[in-house]
Amino acid sequence: MNSENILREIADELHNSRDRKEVHFKMHKRIEELSNNKKFLHESIQNCISNKKFFNQATNLFFYLLIEGDVIIAINIFPPNSNNLESITHDNIHHHGWRLLSTSVISGNGYETISFKKKSHENRDKERVLLEVEKNFKHIKGGTEFVDSEQAHVVFHPKSTSATLAIWSADHPIKTQKIKKIFKRFPLINSYLSKTARTMGLSDLFGLNSTKGNYFHPDNGKIVETKNYSKPHDGTVDEIVPCMFKFFEQVEFKDEKYFKHIEEKNSDKIKILCKNLIEGEPIKDLGIDGDVRRRFSKQQILDALNYK
Ligand SMILES: [Fe+2]
Repeated sequence: MNSENILREIADELHNSRDRKEVHFKMHKRIEELSNNKKFLHESIQNCISNKKFFNQATNLFFYLLIEGDVIIAINIFPPNSNNLESITHDNIHHHGWRLLSTSVISGNGYETISFKKKSHENRDKERVLLEVEKNFKHIKGGTEFVDSEQAHVVFHPKSTSATLAIWSADHPIKTQKIKKIFKRFPLINSYLSKTARTMGLSDLFGLNSTKGNYFHPDNGKIVETKNYSKPHDGTVDEIVPCMFKFFEQVEFKDEKYFKHIEEKNSDKIKILCKNLIEGEPIKDLGIDGDVRRRFSKQQILDALNYK
């Protein structure tokens, strides 16, 4: 089966079921297998980046493989922090509203993460958010992790680039009209994603279903809600594209004919990356600088949670 059919089959299975959570768990083995399936990964990546302007607009760490109805299937890159800061947040503590997520590590050594008890972000003592830790662990290769709807979590920059295959869906069937309304900002034609969808960050997609806040951070020894959260981009094109090439190297996506073609149409910086990839010259794992307003240490978070 080609990659597009595989992606459509997954979306159909989710859309056709009433018990979405059950379908996620049933798919876990398959998601793990797909995260190891080079043919599937190479085909999906190629479909995703075939737009000739892809690299000129790459400011987010996502390859959206399919956005259909309430289902999103993506490859998510987690680069190190370029300042070599350890156990620093990749993004604020957040939850995905009504979306369920199943994620499996494709490449690299995974990342440290903390997941909180579902809806515990709704419990408040004045401005303090009384999050309760459910699991403090490292998401590594092998197996598939599940993040429930309205389950807050936080991911820390790994020491070296890692990537995951991520499948999101609503936690319940959503009527077509409602889906149309939700996605009216992102015109979609079949699985061919609009420019908007290709370039947007997850916060754009998840900011749509906020209840009692989507984002949180430690502040003066307590966890508080992040007001006016904004994260239109993960980084500049110059930061993000090398992260993507590091990932291509990890999954051995280096088709000479394809990258020779890409080389011709892009900047000198991208030409060098293409050349290095084709010739097997190691791609530097430079990472991203991130945003100082979203840079919190794991210790700061654990202290604010009073976590022993
Ligand atoms: Fe998340």
